Amino acid sequence: MTRKILLVNGPNLNLLGVREPGVYGTDTLDDIVDLVTETADGLGFGVRAAQSNHEGVLIDAIHAARTDCDAIVINPGALTHTSIALRDALSGVALPVAEVHLSNVHAREEFRHHSYISPIAEFVIAGAGIQGYEFAVRRLAHLLG
Ligand code: DQA
Repeated sequence: MTRKILLVNGPNLNLLGVREPGVYGTDTLDDIVDLVTETADGLGFGVRAAQSNHEGVLIDAIHAARTDCDAIVINPGALTHTSIALRDALSGVALPVAEVHLSNVHAREEFRHHSYISPIAEFVIAGAGIQGYEFAVRRLAHLLG
C-alpha cells in the first residue's frame, strides 16, 4: 500500500497568488499542491490535500488522516497563533507533523512569533516560500525511512 501524506492549508491560503504578494509571493495554492504531489510521488508517497477557512473542517481532515496517512504537512495560517483545538487534533492522531510557513513569521509582527503547533511538530520551516513544503516532504520521507 502506498504511504500517504496529508497536506493541510488553513485560512486564507486559498487566496495565495493575490493575497499580499510582497509577503507571500505569487505562487498559488494549486502550485503548492502540485509541488507537494510531485515531490511526494518521487519519494513513493501519495498526497491528500485539504484547505479550509474553517477550523472544524481542518480538524475533521486531520482526524480522517489517523487511519490512512503516515505524516502531515501543515500550514495552519493564522490558526498557528490561536488554535489549541488544532494542536490537540494533531497530537490526537499521533502522526509526525511538519509545520510550514511561507513567510518568516519571526521577522514579522510579535503576535506571529508564538505557535501553538511548534511544540508538537517534528520540525518547523518558515520563510522558504513554497519550497518549504518541498523540504518538509523530503524530511518527513527521510524520517519515515
Ligand atoms: C503564514 C503566517 C501566518 O502568520 C499567517 O496568518 C498566514 C500565513 C505563512 O505561511 O507565512 O496566514 O502561515
